[in-house]
This record gives sequence, C-alpha cells and structure tokens, in this order.
Amino acid sequence: MTAPVLEAVDVVRTFGATRALDGVSVRVEAGRSVGIVGESGSGKSTLLRQLLALDSPTAGEVRYRGEPLARRDRGLLRRLRADVQPVFQDPRSSLDPRMRVGAVVAEPLRSLKVPGDHRERVAEVLAAVGLDPDVASRYPAQFSGGQRQRIAIARALAPRPSVLVADEPVSALDVSVRGQVVDLLQRLAAEQGLTLVLVSHDIAIVGRLCERTVVLHHGRVVEEGPTASVLADPQEAYTRRLLAAVPQLPGV
Ligand SMILES: Nc1ncnc2c1ncn2[C@@H]1O[C@H](COP(=O)(O)OP(=O)(O)O)[C@@H](O)[C@H]1O
Ligand SMILES: [Mg+2]
Repeated sequence: MTAPVLEAVDVVRTFGATRALDGVSVRVEAGRSVGIVGESGSGKSTLLRQLLALDSPTAGEVRYRGEPLARRDRGLLRRLRADVQPVFQDPRSSLDPRMRVGAVVAEPLRSLKVPGDHRERVAEVLAAVGLDPDVASRYPAQFSGGQRQRIAIARALAPRPSVLVADEPVSALDVSVRGQVVDLLQRLAAEQGLTLVLVSHDIAIVGRLCERTVVLHHGRVVEEGPTASVLADPQEAYTRRLLAAVPQLPGV
C-alpha cells in the first residue's frame, strides 16, 4: 500500500493556553479529496498550515508521502513545496499588488527554481482557470474578487503540483461568484487528477467538492467519513448544528 500523500498523526498545536489542535489525525490519499469543516476557531487553518509545513506541531507528527517532516530534511521540504500548493482565502491579500499577474503566477516557478522561460506555463495555467493570456501584463487590482481567486489558483497550478490545499477559497468572494470558483476547482481536480484538501466553514462547498469530510471541533476530529454519509446522516450533534447553520450555495 502506498503511503498517504499527507498525513497528520496525533498532532497537537498549542498557542499559550490555547490548544488549537488537540491530537488530530488525518490522512490524505493521493488523488482523493478531503474537506475539513468546523466553526470559526475550530483549528482548520492551523491544521492546513501543518500540512503545508508552514508551521510545526507542538507534539505529534506530519508526514509527506510517508516521511516525517520533523526531520527538517531540506530535500523533502523542497519536494513538498513543489508538490503541495496553497490557495488562501482572500486574493486581495495573497496577491502582491505591485506585481503584474504574469509575475504573480510565475512566482512559485521562480522560487522553486524551475528552469526555462515561464511565460508559456503562465499562459497555460491562465487558460486553465478561464483567463485570457493577456491578463499577464495587468495588475491584480484591475480584477474582480472572483478573477483574482482564479489568478491565485493559476499560481498554485503553475509548478504542476499534485495537491492543492485551499483554506476557505471562496469565503471572501461575492456570493454570486462563489459557485463559479467551486465549479472551477471541481473541474481542475477532475481533469488533472489533483488531490484536494479544502477547508470551509460552509459544509455545502465541501459537499460539492470532497469525497471525504473531517469535522473539527475545538481542535479535535469529532466525525469523519464519506461526505455523502456525513451530510446525510451526521452522527454528532455538533455536525448537525453545522449543517443547520450554513447558507446553501446556489445549485447545491
Ligand atoms: N498564530 C496564532 N497565535 C495565537 N493563537 C492562534 C494562532 N493561530 C491560531 N490561533 C488560535 O487557535 C485556534 C484555532 O484557530 P484557527 O486554526 O485559525 O481556526 P479556524 O481556521 O478553524 O477558524 C483559535 O483559538 C485561534 O485563536
Ligand atoms: Mg481559518
């Protein structure tokens, strides 16, 4: 059996007296999609930062393709940085306003020192997210929120990752464009066989995009399973409350 592409094993992360993660274990299998849901403050972003190796656990272990990240093995981290790409919540703050879109999208290629002329790859990924290649010469501020999130997704795709890790990718967008960005992520994941880890406080979005769902509450996994069964037959009162509280996406 091959190791999961990403795995958290009994991960604890404390901030002072706050136990943001209190013994969380999650497996992300290659080519599959996992949604992480929970109310604000439940530890979702803290968990994603662990999976992206942007933060280290207080206790427990994060593994990338079976290898513990704790070794701080430079080669392992470099492979993870190329293979696991983040998409953050707010494209206003995640896109550098002083950089043209072409440079923004090429940024992971530069930082990963991918050789060659990056313009062709930039045009390819802009097309993949439904943007015209000539947007490369413009600045992020010239675009709407939905278009900016498309630019952020193009940037994430540029180095040909196998995993996208998205933290509330549509929460900062107008309700009217959320469905389009969800559709885009769904199409890209299917077409490119991407592994998807998606955090949302909106369980309806996870319902659209993710095969499995993990429910976090106070830094613990309280429920986990195939999304269809978690949504149809939640075992925990907390999950039922989340289901009752969420706005529905148009078309869900
Ligand atoms: N850098 C930090 N410093 C202090 N507390 C933090 C930090 N990051 C997260 N926390 C705390 O950890 C808990 C979980 O936060 P977070 O992972 O951001 O939740 P979520 O993404 O589910 O809303 C919260 O109580 C939050 O205040
Ligand atoms: Mg968060």
